[in-house]
Amino acid sequence: MPILNHISLAFDKREIVALVGHNGAGKTTLVRAILGLYPLTEGCITFDGTPIHELPPGKIQMVFQPPSAQLIGQTVFEELALTALQRDPAITRAQLDAFVQHYADMAQLTVPIETSVYELSGGQLQRLCIAQALASDAKVLLFDESFAPLDAGARTALRKQLRELADRHALTIVLITHDMEDVLIADKVVILDSGEVRLATDPQTFFYGECGENGQTPFCAARGFRPPYVVEAALAANRRFGLSIRPLSEEELAEELLHVHALVH
Ligand SMILES: Nc1ncnc2c1ncn2[C@@H]1O[C@H](COP(=O)(O)OP(=O)(O)OP(=O)(O)O)[C@@H](O)[C@H]1O
Ligand SMILES: [Mg+2]
Repeated sequence: MPILNHISLAFDKREIVALVGHNGAGKTTLVRAILGLYPLTEGCITFDGTPIHELPPGKIQMVFQPPSAQLIGQTVFEELALTALQRDPAITRAQLDAFVQHYADMAQLTVPIETSVYELSGGQLQRLCIAQALASDAKVLLFDESFAPLDAGARTALRKQLRELADRHALTIVLITHDMEDVLIADKVVILDSGEVRLATDPQTFFYGECGENGQTPFCAARGFRPPYVVEAALAANRRFGLSIRPLSEEELAEELLHVHALVH
């Protein structure tokens, strides 16, 4: 039975893509196909024009759930040193220390590098996986609901960090998520349903663009996703005051409402 059908998508560098869809839609299957784990019956997946199977290892990396499932080392140092040794078996001890510290810093993993991986919190484990992916020169990072077990504060911090990493290192980041807060920080949102792409658009259109019979239901709600607080508040203000604001963050919402307040008074 085919799981994915006629999917055609292109992602850019420095782009965060939120991949959403209900259970069984094919999200995990799609990212595993992007990783090269599943053979395709038709079509191809390329990175910068090169078929994924011809890429050097490590260009496309996934943070699995739970992240500890993909760790080999016993400590932060061991985990990152293994990657360093794969890249350069002749590396010196001093270079190894510098390599490990460099990638731990890049991923904002602030614990001492001798820390046991079993002592890391959920957010720190995610950062170790990100550090490991960056250390192996990944250009595409895939996250399969990786942030789900984290508390709200850790999720916010990781989102901010992913944004910075995508921009600074020209990464493409794909987040499979059921959390609409993740969609707020994305550049593109893709809705998958029964193995088909139903919508590939920007978050503003996803949250505020209208469809349906009367043309008044936002795509997000029409597809059965509950919008995040910022969007609900903006939609309520739009209805109540006849506005058409489309904020994607609390700061933007506050700014828009201040602006309206100034106009009213
Ligand atoms: N190895 C497999 N063999 C056969 N069918 C599979 C296999 N893996 C997944 N499927 C089926 O493919 C469909 C898509 O599964 P997938 O895991 O990609 O969904 P998902 O969108 O990630 O869902 P969820 O949100 O629950 O994680 C489902 O109907 C599932 O039963
Ligand atoms: Mg899944």
